[in-house]
Formats: sequence, structure tokens, C-alpha cells
Amino acid sequence: MYITIKFLKSSKTIEVFPGNTLLAIARENDIRIPSPCGGNALCGGCRVRVVEGNDPQDVSAEEYNKLTDDQIANNWRLACSFIPYYNISVDI
Ligand code: FES
Repeated sequence: MYITIKFLKSSKTIEVFPGNTLLAIARENDIRIPSPCGGNALCGGCRVRVVEGNDPQDVSAEEYNKLTDDQIANNWRLACSFIPYYNISVDI
């Protein structure tokens, strides 16, 4: 089953089969997300805010390490760790 990812600032809506990180999906669709550590969940530079559809229950250990409690509470995710399995809108 495909999911829909809306990249709001890029004005792109992508349908994908779940399984890839948000960073990989963005790259495949020519949407740039800064990734200083190369997508290895080391720098926190790829953080993005999920505007709609975030599930805080699936925040990964890597995300807890690199995001503040406040960021997690406000639906920030690490694009290189976050694998969306549902329809979302992101602020990029
Ligand atoms: S690219 Fe460095 S934490 Fe995601």
C-alpha cells in the first residue's frame, strides 16, 4: 500500500511504497535536506518538522539522541532515521 508524502515548501506530493527513510525519499525526488553526517544519525542536521500525520510513538533511539524533548514534542524528526509508514506532510 502506497503512502503520500507532501513536501510543503517544495510543493511536491510523492506517493511511495513504505520502507525508505524520509531522507532517501527526498533525495530520490530532488528535494534537498541538509545531511552533514551523510545520513548516519550523528549530527542532527537533517531534522525536519512533520506538520501532519506524525506518530510520536515510532520515534527512534537515534532521534531521541539527537533531538530535544521539546523538538520531539513538536513533531521534529530526523529525516535520516525516520521511516514513514503513513501519510504525512513535512515542512520542507
Ligand atoms: S544527516 Fe546527520 S543526523 Fe541525519
